[in-house]
Amino acid sequence: MAVIKVVLGDITQERVDAIVTAANESLLGGGGVDGAIHRAAGPRLAQAGGAIAPCDPGDAKATPAFNLTPPVKHVIHTVGPVWEGGSYGEADLLASCYRRCLEVADDLGVHSIAFPAIATGIYGFPTPDAARIARVTLAATPTKVELIRLVAFDEETYEALSGGSTSS
Ligand code: APR
Repeated sequence: MAVIKVVLGDITQERVDAIVTAANESLLGGGGVDGAIHRAAGPRLAQAGGAIAPCDPGDAKATPAFNLTPPVKHVIHTVGPVWEGGSYGEADLLASCYRRCLEVADDLGVHSIAFPAIATGIYGFPTPDAARIARVTLAATPTKVELIRLVAFDEETYEALSGGSTSS
C-alpha cells in the first residue's frame, strides 16, 4: 500500500521518479501546471507528447522527463475532465485519471510519484470534490508505487487534499 503525503509547493521541484501533469488531449503543453512542467522539461517534452497524442480525458500516457533533474525519469500526462456542472461523468473521469496514472507508473516500475490537483484550475473542477476523489481513488487503487505525493500549489488546495470537507 502506498504512503500518501500532501505537500504545498511547486511540482517541478519534486524529487520523485515520476511527476504527473494535468495536460490537454494534444499533450503539447498549455498553461497552469502543464506549462510549468513543459518549461522545466524543455521543448522535447512537447515533441514526445505530440508523438503519442491524443490522450483521452481520463487516460494517462508517459514520456521521458528530459531536462527535469533527477530523480525524475518520467512525466505522466493525464487529461482531466472539463467541469460542466457535475452531471456529465466528470467525477468518474477524474477518478480514472488517478487510476490510470498509477497503472502507467506500475508499468514503468515507478517507486514514487507526485500529482498536482488535476482539473481544479483551468478545467474548473471544484477543489473540495476533486480532492476527495483524489484521496479516495488513490487509497483504493492497488499499486506497487510506494510513495504518492499530492502537491498543492495554494493553501485552499492543501487543506482540501489534507482532508477538508467537500462542498457537497
Ligand atoms: N505545481 C503544482 N501545482 C500547480 C503548479 C505547479 N507548478 N501550477 C499550477 N498548479 C495547480 C493549480 O493551482 C491547480 O490547483 O495545478 C492544479 C491544476 O490546474 P491546471 O494546471 O489549470 O490544470 P487543469 O485544471 O487540469 O486544466 C488543464 O490547462 O494548462 C492547461 O494544457 C492544460 O489544457 C489543459 C488545462
